Amino acid sequence: MQEHSKFKQQVKAIYRLMAGLFGLFIVAAIGILFLLSNPDWTRKKAPETEQEYVAIPEEDDFDKIENGVHVRTGLIEADGLMTVVNNCTNCHSAKLVTQNRMNEERWIATIRWMQETQNLWDLGGNEEIIVNYLVTNYPPKNKGRREILSDIEWYDLKD
Ligand code: HEC
Repeated sequence: MQEHSKFKQQVKAIYRLMAGLFGLFIVAAIGILFLLSNPDWTRKKAPETEQEYVAIPEEDDFDKIENGVHVRTGLIEADGLMTVVNNCTNCHSAKLVTQNRMNEERWIATIRWMQETQNLWDLGGNEEIIVNYLVTNYPPKNKGRREILSDIEWYDLKD
């Protein structure tokens, strides 16, 4: 019988030891998890410095219009300007557009030529807007001959 209770005590001791170890293990595991999720909890916090903010001017100059001219491209400000800017200044300078003055028929022919040979995309509904803009603001300038005089005050030659 004594043998038996001694054995019982030993089992109890081992059991307590195991329980203690298990407890320690849990505490260590929680500590490790805590460190993993807050790696810098021991680090000193950097003193908070006053952050100075420099005012950056807003980027609204890109499509600036000055004196009725779209500064970036030199195109005249009018209805359809941005449609022209977005479709006609990607491949070549807007100068190529503005130095050409044409009537509607020839502007359309130029667009067709670019579409057929230069990979210009289908302009869809924008074509009308673009052609209107071009014809209104960049019509043919050079006239072949002097315009017919009008409003002339004729005077009678005296004998
Ligand atoms: C996909 C590219 C592309 C786009 C977009 C484009 N063009 Fe062109 N365009 C060209 C090329 C390439 C030429 C020939 C350039 C050269 O000769 O140096 C040209 C030439 C021109 C010329 C000169 C034609 C000539 O007879 O000399 C005019 C005017 C012109 N384009 C107007 C326009 C207009 C208006 C638009 C908007 C609808 C436009 N382009 C959009 C590619 C394009």
